Amino acid sequence: PTRPLILALESSCDETAAAIVDGEGNLVSDVVASQIDFHARFGGVVPEIASRKHIEAICGVCDECFDTAAAHLGIEKLTWADLDAVAATYAPGLLGALVVGVAFAKGAAWAADKPYIAVHHLEGHLYANKIGAPDFEPPAVVSLVSGGNTLLVHMRGWGDYETLGATIDDAVGEAFDKVAKALGLGYPGGPVISREAAKGKADAIAFPRALLHSGDLRFSLSGLKTAVVTYINNERAAGREPNVPDVCASFQQAVVDVQVAKAKRALEQTGARTFCLGGGVAANPVLRAAYEDLCERMNVRLVMPPLSACGDNAGMIALVALDRYRQGAFHPLNSDAQAHADL
Ligand code: KG4
Repeated sequence: PTRPLILALESSCDETAAAIVDGEGNLVSDVVASQIDFHARFGGVVPEIASRKHIEAICGVCDECFDTAAAHLGIEKLTWADLDAVAATYAPGLLGALVVGVAFAKGAAWAADKPYIAVHHLEGHLYANKIGAPDFEPPAVVSLVSGGNTLLVHMRGWGDYETLGATIDDAVGEAFDKVAKALGLGYPGGPVISREAAKGKADAIAFPRALLHSGDLRFSLSGLKTAVVTYINNERAAGREPNVPDVCASFQQAVVDVQVAKAKRALEQTGARTFCLGGGVAANPVLRAAYEDLCERMNVRLVMPPLSACGDNAGMIALVALDRYRQGAFHPLNSDAQAHADL
């Protein structure tokens, strides 16, 4: 294999993931173990369960990562000693979950006498755009939309980021999850809402588009969630069952309209000619189609990571770590996980 070989871990939320990148930026292994089934019955991610499940999964995920990499490279076995560095997501996320990946990576780095690299989770999502488009280069505007984050980033260059605006309350994915819960559709809400929405009318119910005309790039989702819950309650109080496909389609359209309007504004404001997406909500088909339409109208290049790289994964963390390795930017073994850290 081409050097360096770097193993990266990701454990910021409810995915335990490990990936190995080679010196050419190829992901020779990319393993994700989702905990979603353990959280579904509680209607959301339970931090305490997430930490414990990461501990249970991480050794097996690393073993599988080494085995897959060895098979990919056509060698019999690959071990910690064969690596040039070990990386992990250190922030932001659930602290107890992050600690597992960070402690494991630092322990492995120490035992194998390799450098340790700490990676910011959101920078990982920016790099995920390379996975589907290896020629992707900044400058670009990136929309990050997940269960925990909703922000627009101006990526001026690799390592040079400006947050243009973020949500002042709930994340977009959180809104999907809360609306799904109110409709009794289970967790996670995003996929089931987009399936139901496909059967409904997007203009059936007038839900609010918060901050649409605010003139800035902030988002607010909690009022929309409340409006949907109030609508459902009013329907039931009047003895009617809400039309689930119509509620889903109308809610989803309210989200998409604001996302697209703010993306357009961010592109105009920065003059960037490339627009990218990241995070679990980036899998939403109506959102993707709306961005295709916007970018075509604005003659802007649209780069969307493959669906598998939209959600949390370690491949994107490994790609960041490769750049850090080349810069010699290593981290001391007393550096810690952090729940919050600016991009
Ligand atoms: O990035 P991600 O896997 O990690 C977390 O932030 O936890 O994102 C998960 C989020 C969930 O809130 C989920 O409901 C949402 O992404 N999501 C979607 C879709 N698929 C997943 N939201 C809207 N439409 C989808 N098709």
